[in-house]
Amino acid sequence: MTIRVYESVEEIQTFISQEKAKGKSVGFTPTMGALHEGHMSLVRRSNRENDISVVSIFVNPTQFNEQTDLAKYPRTFKADKKLLDENNCDVLFFPSVKEIYPKGTGHRPKVKLKGLDQKLEGAFRPGHFDGVVQVVHRFLDIVKPNRLYMGQKDFQQFTIIDRMIEDLKMPVELVVCPIGRSNAGLALSSRNARLKRQHKERAVIIHQCLLWTKRHLESHTIEEIINYSMTRLAIQDFNPEYFLLVDGYSLSEVKNVNKHKYIVALTAVWAGEVRLIDNMIVKKV
Ligand code: PAJ
Repeated sequence: MTIRVYESVEEIQTFISQEKAKGKSVGFTPTMGALHEGHMSLVRRSNRENDISVVSIFVNPTQFNEQTDLAKYPRTFKADKKLLDENNCDVLFFPSVKEIYPKGTGHRPKVKLKGLDQKLEGAFRPGHFDGVVQVVHRFLDIVKPNRLYMGQKDFQQFTIIDRMIEDLKMPVELVVCPIGRSNAGLALSSRNARLKRQHKERAVIIHQCLLWTKRHLESHTIEEIINYSMTRLAIQDFNPEYFLLVDGYSLSEVKNVNKHKYIVALTAVWAGEVRLIDNMIVKKV
């Protein structure tokens, strides 16, 4: 069956309420398009676990701090639709800004994020997570899925959405999927399309630093680990913004490895003009 494409809230809600009335479960994967295998792994998981899989493509203006980044965000609707169709996605929701924010972008849900949005990416991209919370909340309200699919690739993002679901007691199960990587180890990202070839080749160093961290967590101090990676990542045309070890629940910086059950190494690196993020769970007991 070919994929259904809905652009209006009314159309998609009519379809979903009909399906839910038949007892069908709905899995939902929000995206900003420029889809790749990482996104598809979420869609395939949603297919396995639900009767209906819905994917949204919406380049959300409220989560971009720089207008140039928003303007440069790749838009590849035709190829995205084809990929979703090939991966047996049932519904593609492709709304306009007006459809998502009919009363303007001022309305925001009140969520107690306990400072999760201020650290890491939040410190470098002020307001970014307010926009993510706003749009995911709006989508959940429209689609009302049984399950929400998000990637570990954006560790802080899913942690914040998990917190929102808990705080607002939203009736949805968050399913977090592993990071899809290229054979060389580079985390798949829509932004990779903007990487120069030589930068793309060099960017595998990010994954290597994360693997090194996991291997040396017990034998080295945190300072040594961070220094090692920050130095290794500072190759030609590369500029690491941060490389940190944080508690996987609170996202606060880890000072003593033995005091935490769940530790994640997170990094953001400029590769030429492109900002890449990646992470790895280095301890979970
Ligand atoms: P986008 O960057 O398009 O990512 C959509 C979803 O795909 C996110 O949950 C992200 O973590 C996941 N994803 C991206 N790359 C991945 C990879 N290599 N492996 C596994 N999953 C991956 O994240 C956003 O869009 C937006 O902020 C959004 C949540 C849609 C809100 O606008």
